[in-house]
Amino acid sequence: MVNARLSAIGMSVPEKVIPNSYFESLIDTTEEWILSRTGIKTRYHAAPDEFTSDLCVRAVQDLVVQFPEVSLEDVDMILVATTSPDQPMPSMACRVQHRLSLSHAGALDIYAACAGFSYGIVMAKGLIAGGVHKKILVIGAETLSKVTDFTDRTSCMLFGDGAGAVLIEADKTGNIGGCITGASGEGGPDLYISGFAESIDGQPLKMNRCIVQNGRKVFKWAVTKVAEQMPLLAAANGITLADIDWFVPHSANLRIIEALSNETGVPMEKVLESIVDFGNTSSASIPIALYNGIKSGKVKRGDKIMIFGFGGGLAYAGTVITW
Ligand code: COA
Repeated sequence: MVNARLSAIGMSVPEKVIPNSYFESLIDTTEEWILSRTGIKTRYHAAPDEFTSDLCVRAVQDLVVQFPEVSLEDVDMILVATTSPDQPMPSMACRVQHRLSLSHAGALDIYAACAGFSYGIVMAKGLIAGGVHKKILVIGAETLSKVTDFTDRTSCMLFGDGAGAVLIEADKTGNIGGCITGASGEGGPDLYISGFAESIDGQPLKMNRCIVQNGRKVFKWAVTKVAEQMPLLAAANGITLADIDWFVPHSANLRIIEALSNETGVPMEKVLESIVDFGNTSSASIPIALYNGIKSGKVKRGDKIMIFGFGGGLAYAGTVITW
């Protein structure tokens, strides 16, 4: 049987750091409120001429620098998870395929918001186990600052820009375990970016092409749903939550992560997050947190890492990786 191994990781963020004080002149808020309600200290915003595909390319370039033993020459599929592409068409995966001259690779974007990277890992594992592909780049990348409503005091301070990329290869033993996917589609109107339709399920949408959310409802759903699914994901891997060395949830809000820790008993010391320094980078938040956990030396070879993405859709996906 062919298995899938996550073998390398890279990341990128724009240059411009945005501190909480930036929002004090934009909306009615304070640095302290943002820190205490979200845990965020800084986030990065892309330059006007910098887009999601640029961050994707730089994350893959970083992956090769960090893991010089891997080769991208025979990459045969590129999956990009994003909810803030440069444009709806061509896909970000096609842009990456072209810009990195990965001429033998298929290319596909995944549209699952903050769960997108985790869905990408699940899809890559399935494609490799099914013998369809052998070497897949999975990238989570966002320039959410381009779809943020900077007049909305309940959301504009949350979001940041960034990208994370991993390489997944066919391998005898593999290191990607059992997976879980799901959705609560009825929660669509609770977190959206409007497009052509003016309503979802009869509920009128704010037509400003920016992220709109019911923060309290999303918060509650995330804590309830993820806490319910985590033990099931552990069981799908033949372990319990006590066997997990690292938990890497989507970094939406530090308070959500703390609530998950409380609900499930997975201590905060075992959490890898990217919310404090990078804000909510949606599909990029998990690979950025994982990257920094590995780079800092916290994550050791053989450690069991549970990743769990959740967000707009409302959708979720997770797996356990043995690094
Ligand atoms: N600065 C200062 N005060 C603010 C504020 C801001 N930026 N935004 C809201 N407030 C005020 C409100 O007016 C309200 O005041 P009141 O009590 O006098 O009425 C109070 O803070 C509480 O508002 P509420 O909306 O209930 O805040 P909250 O504690 O739920 O925090 C979020 C708001 C958005 C930080 C929080 O709900 C959240 O993070 N939700 C999840 C969002 C998310 O993760 N989305 C992406 C998922 S992938």
